[in-house]
Amino acid sequence: MNPIKIGLLGLGTVGGGTVSVLTRNIDEITRRAGREIVISHVAALDYDADAIEGLDRIGRITDDAFDVVNDPEVEIIIELIGGYSPARELVLKAIENGKHVVTANKALIALHGNEIFSAAQARGVTVAFEAAVAGGIPIIKAMREGLAANQIQWAAGIINGTGNFILSEMRDHGRDFDDVLKEAQSLGYAETDPTFDVEGIDAAHKLTIIGSIAFGIPLQFDKTYTEGITHIEQLDVRYAGELGYRIKHLGITRKTDKGIEMRVHPTLIPERRLIANVDGVMNAVLVYGDAVGPTLYYGAGAGAQPTASAVVADVVDVVRALTSDPENRVPHLAFQPDAMSDIPVVDIEDIETAYYLRLSAVDRPGVLANVTAILGRSNISIEAIIQKQAIDGSPHVPVIFLTQRVQEKNMNEAIRHIEALDTISGQVARIRLETLA
Ligand code: HSE
Repeated sequence: MNPIKIGLLGLGTVGGGTVSVLTRNIDEITRRAGREIVISHVAALDYDADAIEGLDRIGRITDDAFDVVNDPEVEIIIELIGGYSPARELVLKAIENGKHVVTANKALIALHGNEIFSAAQARGVTVAFEAAVAGGIPIIKAMREGLAANQIQWAAGIINGTGNFILSEMRDHGRDFDDVLKEAQSLGYAETDPTFDVEGIDAAHKLTIIGSIAFGIPLQFDKTYTEGITHIEQLDVRYAGELGYRIKHLGITRKTDKGIEMRVHPTLIPERRLIANVDGVMNAVLVYGDAVGPTLYYGAGAGAQPTASAVVADVVDVVRALTSDPENRVPHLAFQPDAMSDIPVVDIEDIETAYYLRLSAVDRPGVLANVTAILGRSNISIEAIIQKQAIDGSPHVPVIFLTQRVQEKNMNEAIRHIEALDTISGQVARIRLETLA
């Protein structure tokens, strides 16, 4: 059989990794795919030729990506340019031209996936996106195929390596936020615009995809609540540790009576949970299925070769599918397109969770009584309180509360009242807490 020809868009971190993995492991990959795979046409603007192993074994390189998607010899396009545009136009053109697409572009799938999948379905081609979520961890395959027997109840993941790297370094080495972020950028983990990492947007892209696959709902990035890690202070990391918790930036999706929760935010989790011990750039996704119970998927969530591992696995899947009945392909979002559900996504104000609160209070009798009265009026039950020593002779002392589960709108109201007290200084630091039991 003739080799299958691939068009590759992008020779950055993941593009370079994909060339390396595909050329280095070509014999094993050919045995798995059943056909030899060659990268015959590549589009790249600027790249470091010396840093890419195997570059001498690929076909021609152009600076016009549309040349590649219009190349009649190419059967599969690997899109590794990233971003929304021109990635969207290129992918839609490739589909129109009858080509299968493999992409690592989570932003593209989270925002334009519904449009792209319906175009692919109409044209009878596959769009594979394993590398878009949690780098090298085969979480899409695990959820879409391995857990297909289950009603998924919830999933929670550390799905941004850069954010996890920053929080881990802050906790273990007391390092400065900006300093760690620079290191993550130099190691190729961070997004081109690192605010996507630290403001939670990258994690929200990935959670949007996980939520759709878990519950069979269309991709709805705009309804995913997104909060980053920039407001997490060193002292919150320390206090959480003293209470037996770790602060992790989690993406959480859960099916409730009200709908589907979709939220990304820093979260206290008990330090004894396996996922609480996932450090550095590593990612982990915990999925709870009614039949299987909790399952945990762990691995490198970013970087050239781990992400290339997922890209190349998708290429192998596509090549295998080319020789099978198209009706038997796995649906893009795990559920059949005509069986998608319209269960609503829950507004963040309606979610229920426990909280860690840190207030800066005047050290005087009756001050905490006022705070607990406010919490009581909002029906918020307190799990633990600790008062720390004043910092640098300040008249205020840090007071930490752990609460039981409460509806977010009640907590917002309580925080507004607490912040209005003249015995409380500044804003209340609030971090949601999940026991993940
Ligand atoms: N910037 C992402 C991260 C890369 O840090 O996890 C993988 O999507």
